[in-house]
Amino acid sequence: MTKKRVLSCIQPTGEIHLGNYFGAVKNWVAIQDTYECFYGVVDLHAMTMPYDPKALKQNTLQMMAELLACGIDPEKSTLFIQSLVPQHTELAWIFNCVASYGELSRMTQFKDKSDQIEGGGKGNFISAGLFTYPVLQAADILVYMANLVPVGKDQVQHLELSRNIAIRFNKQFGEDFFPEPQPLLTEIPKLVSLADPSKKMSKSLGEKHYVSLFEDENRLRKKVRSAVTDTGEEQRDGMSPGVENLFNLIKACEKSEAYDLLIKDYHNGELKYKELKDTVAEALVELTTPFRQKKEELLKDKKQIESLALRLSEKAQDVAADTIRKVRSLTGLPRYAK
Ligand code: TRP
Repeated sequence: MTKKRVLSCIQPTGEIHLGNYFGAVKNWVAIQDTYECFYGVVDLHAMTMPYDPKALKQNTLQMMAELLACGIDPEKSTLFIQSLVPQHTELAWIFNCVASYGELSRMTQFKDKSDQIEGGGKGNFISAGLFTYPVLQAADILVYMANLVPVGKDQVQHLELSRNIAIRFNKQFGEDFFPEPQPLLTEIPKLVSLADPSKKMSKSLGEKHYVSLFEDENRLRKKVRSAVTDTGEEQRDGMSPGVENLFNLIKACEKSEAYDLLIKDYHNGELKYKELKDTVAEALVELTTPFRQKKEELLKDKKQIESLALRLSEKAQDVAADTIRKVRSLTGLPRYAK
């Protein structure tokens, strides 16, 4: 039986943090044997917000190294760089003519990000690329005819748009050409900011709010030590969000014995925050040390990562070019010479 095809992508906007890892990358690694997997570093998506070209180039290579360090196996999965597979942009244009202005206007991520730009003091420039971002995302998925897309809840609306584009395209140009991609939702621990537990853990909040998967050990311990537990403002009933976050981290690291002991202490009113934090720090150091070492080792030979990226992106192109050939024929565009 042929394996179902999976596609997922990540933006190269800096180091992978714990939220990305537990929410996505860990699962990407886990499903490599079950499905035929395509994983992309989407540099073109990173251009939709104000960015620095040098940083983009560096971050793209770094993201490749980090995904490899996390266990994406180039023998099993096709790990590509989006801009090295030009078929994505070609299909995106065609999809721009299949998607409607109205449905794009309803995308909540567009609204959130344009609010962020307008409120962020970085000028008021909102690119058309930010508006059509989900069309490129639909092309990422459908250029590989992917059936399953591992995503977090925040991407469900974009995936629904991808399905609508597939359905509309099929109706207009040929029944059953594109599959209707389904989300592959995994159980994701809810991780909040260490410094402000009322907010989701995210890089955009700033250094002290998140832990990178490649964090220097001393910095990691320091961040955990200074994590907010009780602010004194919460209602007295139930666990405070900061404490719950620390428990969630222990669970995410699969330290169930330590979790059970500490939760018992919590219910008996005997929990010491220092002990809780030490346990979190220990578990995170154990988790992250091999990743950090592997990444350092990989980045010693940048040329090798670059040539791997080129080779795998070419492999991705073989599949993508086949889709484009058929799409061009269906939509009334001339055939390429070869
Ligand atoms: N929009 C996704 C995110 O912000 C990244 C992404 C781009 C993606 N293209 C994709 C995810 C295709 C899944 C499939 O996380």
